[in-house]
Formats: sequence, C-alpha cells, structure tokens
Amino acid sequence: MIIAKTISELQQALSPSRQTGKSIGFVPTMGNLHQGHLSLVEKAKEVADVVVVSIFVNPTQFGPNEDFDSYPRTFDADCEKLSSQQADIVFAPSVDEVYPGYSSNKTKPSLTKVHVEQLGKQHCGASRPGHFDGVTTIVSKLFNMVRPDIAVFGQKDFQQITIIRRMVQDLNIPVTIISAPILREENGLAMSSRNGYLSTSEKEQAAAIYRTLTWAKKQLEEHKLSFDEVEQSAVKQLSEQGFRVDYFNVSNADTLQVAETTDKNLVILVAAYLDKVRLIDNIQVTL
Ligand code: PAF
Repeated sequence: MIIAKTISELQQALSPSRQTGKSIGFVPTMGNLHQGHLSLVEKAKEVADVVVVSIFVNPTQFGPNEDFDSYPRTFDADCEKLSSQQADIVFAPSVDEVYPGYSSNKTKPSLTKVHVEQLGKQHCGASRPGHFDGVTTIVSKLFNMVRPDIAVFGQKDFQQITIIRRMVQDLNIPVTIISAPILREENGLAMSSRNGYLSTSEKEQAAAIYRTLTWAKKQLEEHKLSFDEVEQSAVKQLSEQGFRVDYFNVSNADTLQVAETTDKNLVILVAAYLDKVRLIDNIQVTL
C-alpha cells in the first residue's frame, strides 16, 4: 500500500494505473476508520481495479464551535486497517497541501467554493451553516486530485450523498457515485467516528435513535399516523430518553424537501445530541 502525502506523490502513485487503463475507485474519509468505512473500501475493491482512500479532516466543513480540533486523528491505526483491507493508495495530505496558505490565513483558505442550491438548506444544513459547501468543495477538489472513475460514499450521510450526486450531475464530473448501506452495531446504533465520544452506557442509550426510526417507518408503512404526528411523537420519544433532538424529518428521498402525502419514496432523517455528541441516522421508506 502506497501512502501519498502530497498531490504530486498521489499523481506518481496513480500514474502506472492511468497508463494501463485501470479503473480507479475512491473512498474519501476523514480517518478514524471503523467497519463502516472498511465496507466502503470493500465495495470500491469490488467495482474498481485500484482503490484510493483519502484521509483528510477537512477544516472547511466544521463550524467555529464544532469538533475540528478534537476530531480523532488515528493515522497509524487507519493505515493498518486499510492495509488489511488491501487498499492500494492512501492519500493523506496536510491542510496546507489542500488549501495553500491555510495555516497562515485561516479564514480564507480559498476564494472558490462549490455550493449546491436547495439540498443543503434543511436538516443538517440548517444547524450547520456552510457545512455542505465545505463538503462539496473538498469533494470536488479531491475528485480533481484523484480523478476516480468511481467513488463510494456511505448512506449514513444521506443528505451528503444526495448533494454530491447532484453536484456531479450539475458539473458533469466524470465519476460514478456508488452508495453503500449503513453498518450498525448489534444494538442498531449506526457506526460513526463520533460514537468514539460516547461512553458504553451512552452507546446503549444511543441505540434508541434506530429504534425510533424503525418505529416511525412502521407507522408510515401502516398509514397509522400522519407524517407530522410521526415526527412529533418521535421527537417526544427521543427527548424522553435523554436526547436533544435537532431534527426528525419525514422527507422526500429525492428532493429532501418536506414529504407530501402523495410521495412514495421517503427518507426519515434524524440528528440528535446525547450530551455534546451529535449523532445522525436515517431510514428509507417506500410506500
Ligand atoms: O463523510 C465524510 O467523512 C466527509 O464529509 C468527506 C466526504 C470525507 C469529505 O470531507
């Protein structure tokens, strides 16, 4: 496995594959890898000849009061896992390599950003202003550096992958986006790097998010309650179990707008805090 720390090292590492026409699969990550990430690498290995995994904690997608500085950085352990998973190239650039001059001028790492209208306004976008611009900008930059044929993203970040698909379509970026299912702990908790902030008892408590999602899905499938009633009851259930709910939204799975009663393809999106830890999850519903 090659570890490339600069864009030119990455180009050098990819050059033989490009020359021999091998397909390049790409899994962008922020590191602190868990089984969920490794399942994305496995998927990429199934569909591409060469797999590049980036490890880059992207400052521009964190808000001023968020966990950029404390975000877990576990590079050596990540590389071991990726090597066992037979990733071919790890691309782990510094912040200054990606955003030249960032360290000396934190507020303006670049004059250009990629913004996808509408899809980033609600849900996580409403409580994390600028987050999705940071994501779409870094993902475009990484796509330009890696130039993958295929990129794999996890469905846990449902809003993120919807926005990235739209960006790729709107900007004619020549990459196929593949989504991989959410991996869960035995108790149903969606795997996430942020679970590392939870104590053992909080991890048990956090399983209530998935239980509430499956409860909500059942209500919708059985047409027992209106969308509003499901949302309100779910917020109440989670609040009673110690969460501060950011949102629990029944949405149209394609547009991410508030679901209409005639919509057939739905997604229920949730973000809730356990103490200071913000957890997100979702479940799709077809009516
Ligand atoms: O999902 C993530 O880990 C990040 O948002 C991504 C796609 C690697 C961009 O920084």
